[in-house]
Amino acid sequence: MIGKLNHIAIAVPNIKEAAEQYRNIFGAKVSGEVKQPDHGVTTVFIDLGNTKIELLEVLGDDSPIQKFLDKNPKGGMHHICLEVEDINNAIEKLNTHEVSITGTGKPKIGAHGKPVVFLHPKSCNGTLIELEEV
Ligand code: CO
Repeated sequence: MIGKLNHIAIAVPNIKEAAEQYRNIFGAKVSGEVKQPDHGVTTVFIDLGNTKIELLEVLGDDSPIQKFLDKNPKGGMHHICLEVEDINNAIEKLNTHEVSITGTGKPKIGAHGKPVVFLHPKSCNGTLIELEEV
């Protein structure tokens, strides 16, 4: 069911500083900042060739990463994103096996314009998993 690792997301308190570290010290290919008001985050992507790192900063009052950053003020790994070919098939299978999906349990258009769902960490060894249809 699952394919490639699409990205690893890291929540950060200051996305400019984090992006600069990846660009200037780590020598990585770093995108510009994109504000995503619908998702309550600002994102920066770091292209590693085989996969990406997604830096996430809080945007607005109702950000889904605010609680995480309250608990992890220096930032931390927030989720991993795995690719699936057919998200509705994946959801059906997960429901059969009682793997908990966050929110409504239905796919939403994610930060990259593709359908995604998030699997609850309590069902996935303590790791928040984003499934993205590619
Ligand atoms: Co993501």
